[in-house]
Amino acid sequence: MPQKNIDTHTVTHKFPDDFFWGAASASYQVEGGILNTDWAQAAEEGRVPYAGKACDHYNRYAEDFDIAKSLGHDAHRMSVEWARIEPEEGKFNMEAILHYQKVAQALQKRGMHPGITLWHFTLPLWFANRGGFERDDAPEIFARYAAFVVSHLKDYCHHYATMNEPIVYASNGWLRGTWPPFKRFALFDVLSITNSGRQHEARYTKGLRPFFTYLRVVKNLARAHNAAYDAIKDVLLASDVSMVKHVILFHANKNPFNQLIARVMNWWWTHRFMKMVIGKCDSIGLNYYIHKKFGDTQTYEKTDMDWDIYPEGIYDCLMMLKRYKKPLYISEAGLADARDDRRGMYITKQVEAVWQAIQNGADVRGHFYWSLLDNYEWALGYEKRFGLVAIDYETLERTIRPSAYIYKQICERNGI
Ligand code: FCB
Repeated sequence: MPQKNIDTHTVTHKFPDDFFWGAASASYQVEGGILNTDWAQAAEEGRVPYAGKACDHYNRYAEDFDIAKSLGHDAHRMSVEWARIEPEEGKFNMEAILHYQKVAQALQKRGMHPGITLWHFTLPLWFANRGGFERDDAPEIFARYAAFVVSHLKDYCHHYATMNEPIVYASNGWLRGTWPPFKRFALFDVLSITNSGRQHEARYTKGLRPFFTYLRVVKNLARAHNAAYDAIKDVLLASDVSMVKHVILFHANKNPFNQLIARVMNWWWTHRFMKMVIGKCDSIGLNYYIHKKFGDTQTYEKTDMDWDIYPEGIYDCLMMLKRYKKPLYISEAGLADARDDRRGMYITKQVEAVWQAIQNGADVRGHFYWSLLDNYEWALGYEKRFGLVAIDYETLERTIRPSAYIYKQICERNGI
């Protein structure tokens, strides 16, 4: 564990000594050159923007990790691309897995602890074309892939998340119809309560059936996590296997009816799924971006995603997850802020709220800002700027934003 540079005169909110600080990223959003996924196919069909060469992180990871290191990070959350590793069903590509060995090693060499997500939204084309997670044999297929990856990366990494934000994935694919496979539940327009910003013009199939498929997909995702957990443990018993859960904070004013709606929504979005997988989680990753307060008349400043600026909401999310009695990681939290005039303040308030949650018993072990680099923001393309580091997509030049130094100070002081 690298030594933290603790300045005891100024740190009022000190974090536990072995706390991890870093940023998060995901392969499809930064690597570039991935052509055999459902997202690449959707881009070909004009339904989502092209990812193209992205940040060319596939070739520039060493340079990017040097930057992260210089910014005081001692850990990094990354993902590996399923479609690179298993380009055809059951056929694994050694070159791809050797590449990820080098990537994980590059982190280790810099004294940065790797956390690896096995699947972050994009599916290999062969799997998507055969129905993906709609299929009831998806858990076995996913577990076989998970075991392969961990058996080759186990010397470099002990922290694995099986999947990223299963409920976001299923909701966008089968309720909202904005992500592959573009199925939209006909009543969604009426029920819509989350505000996720303007979406690229997706062409979706609309009907009542997507709702039932959604339920099946969610169940299969939970089964896939559980199967992958067992498969990973067979390969590496000493691993820490987690679920990365996107939590929307539903809360309410004093009105009991609003409070009831908030409770039901928290159950629907978070607890229903967590209960299906918690038996097979060594830890939980929390991704926090959005809150919805029922009966609220307050207006909020907005991020470039049009999401309320409400970093303190992460406290309630952590309190919500505390009940599962597992170590918690902030696996993602951050904002799109092209002007970089709110990011520093946002991060500081968010970290303060995490500290507060730790004081009140949440066992939080690490914090990963989303994201290290600007990147491909799914159906919204490259316009939204989440990075601590700005990317010029013409030249691929990296420029550290001022807010990255505010976060650096937090990382190096291990507190605020
Ligand atoms: C999360 C995703 C991540 C990124 C951020 C902004 O839901 O996990 O890939 O798109 O949102």
